[in-house]
Amino acid sequence: MTVPPTTLPPTTAAADLTGRKVRVTGGASGIGAACARQFAAAGATVVVADLDEAGASRVAAAIGGSGGAAAASAVDLADPGFDAAALAADADVIVNNAGIQHVAPVEEFPEERFRLILALMLEAPFRLVRAALPHMYAQGWGRVVNISSVHGLRASAYKSAYVAAKHGLEGLSKVIALEGGGRGVTSNTICPAYVRTPLVEKQIADQARVHGIPEPEVIEKIMLTEPAVKRLVEPWEVADLAVHLCSPQMSFANGSSIVLDGGWTAR
Ligand SMILES: NC(=O)c1ccc[n+]([C@@H]2O[C@H](COP(=O)([O-])OP(=O)(O)OC[C@H]3O[C@@H](n4cnc5c(N)ncnc54)[C@H](O)[C@@H]3O)[C@@H](O)[C@H]2O)c1
Repeated sequence: MTVPPTTLPPTTAAADLTGRKVRVTGGASGIGAACARQFAAAGATVVVADLDEAGASRVAAAIGGSGGAAAASAVDLADPGFDAAALAADADVIVNNAGIQHVAPVEEFPEERFRLILALMLEAPFRLVRAALPHMYAQGWGRVVNISSVHGLRASAYKSAYVAAKHGLEGLSKVIALEGGGRGVTSNTICPAYVRTPLVEKQIADQARVHGIPEPEVIEKIMLTEPAVKRLVEPWEVADLAVHLCSPQMSFANGSSIVLDGGWTAR
């Protein structure tokens, strides 16, 4: 089966975020890069935070060239000593997006890799939001958008650290929602199925190995088995939803897990 890309771009920004300061983690690539572009298109000033300094600078420069405002910030979010306040203390919107994958059975899963994934995908979001909340509470407005996954709601074999981190992020998001809802701060997660990004491309070989199938069959036989809509999600579809979650129309959405999964979790 061929899976043609869905290239139709959004025609209008999903919100007016003029003057808002947005931090997008993992903004050098994939969903994060799409978020950085879409938030800038909505008028926000975006900081593209990423381990990949050159990639973050490229995304920020491309946004600057198209009329939005963006800067790059090089940071290793898996380092427990990273300066969360420097990145987030004045943020109006935090998009917790940076993430990695590791595919291996539990009994072979490297312990240090498990710790790294939890540090990057659960502890870093906690630390960034913790640093941002005093400013958000003081102004009575803030938005936390957590890029979770269908794996925040469902498990798949061979992804223990990723599934654990995303389930943890779901819990963290709900607690922030309860604490912040009465003070103008909402927190929600977006739960996509497989998105057409480098993270997915990188795991095709691993998935072929652990499932014992040829690489060309991984998309159809593994990634598209569960969604009723048989295609990958495009990064801009996730980014558009992230911006929409910061619009006035979505101000009552709080503690939600919004699935973009082609029907995966409908069963
Ligand atoms: N691609 C998918 O199918 C899919 C599906 C559901 C959810 N997600 C989630 O979306 C998010 C983005 O994924 P993507 O597919 O765009 O991945 P990607 O690999 O394209 O981008 C991830 C970015 O995170 C950055 N990063 C990695 N480690 C970092 C660190 N220690 N410090 C700072 N930055 C770091 C990378 O440099 C990269 O720019 C992840 O949280 C992922 O779990 C992805």
